[in-house]
Amino acid sequence: MKRHNLIGLTLAALILITALLWVTFRHKPITQTAPTPRSSHTTPSVADQPQPFNKTLYSTSEADSIWVVINKKRILADGYVPVDLINPNVPLRLAKTSEEMLVRKTTATAMESMFQAASKDGVLLMLASGYRSQSLQKVVYNGFVQKDGQVAADRASARPGHSEHQTGLAFDVEPASRTCEIQECFADTPEGKWVALHAYDYGFILRYGKDQETLTGYEYEPWHLRFVGVDLAKEMQQAHQTLEQFFDLPAAPNY
Ligand code: DAL
Ligand code: ZN
Repeated sequence: MKRHNLIGLTLAALILITALLWVTFRHKPITQTAPTPRSSHTTPSVADQPQPFNKTLYSTSEADSIWVVINKKRILADGYVPVDLINPNVPLRLAKTSEEMLVRKTTATAMESMFQAASKDGVLLMLASGYRSQSLQKVVYNGFVQKDGQVAADRASARPGHSEHQTGLAFDVEPASRTCEIQECFADTPEGKWVALHAYDYGFILRYGKDQETLTGYEYEPWHLRFVGVDLAKEMQQAHQTLEQFFDLPAAPNY
């Protein structure tokens, strides 16, 4: 082959290859490349740093607030009734018409999610006692006084106006079998163990913890759950504190 023919053929081949490459790649979309990870030596921006928990997001003194703190020193307004009481869709100890089978709407929703999750784990829970009006709390408290005397009653039951049950945000839980109903041995049942481990994920705290009687004024109540919302519950699970300690409020072991 003559030299100029060879050059011509080589040039034609190059042009053909270039054209083919252009046709193949011209319509390829530009894909988003993953952002380059920051070097560990880069100073983190303010947005990257963990923000302190905002303890003032909700009121601790308004009765309708999910963070309201009620104890032996902090009383509810006389005759307070929450506005949005409903029957939660869970197994109930008493008839639907009983006021104790009511809780606030937000408590009900969280309770339903928690009971469903427990049931998926083979743990069957029941609502033992939710909302209690001031007058029902009076009956309950007086029952304790008559049975065990006032000193013992004050370790087990709140006086009327001083119970979290009146807020509709607290409830007592028990096994559907009613084993260890409102007794300390509930903590050792599969249901009690499940609740202690998972209640926080659904926005509930164990309000009257073991060895906290000098702070709360109440004996250990592994069955008494208090709705505070998921964020605070998770924060408190880390903190291992009473609600009063967490919010820098005085402990209230006595009236
Ligand atoms: N047992 C709790 C303290 C109540 O009566 O509210
Ligand atoms: Zn209770």
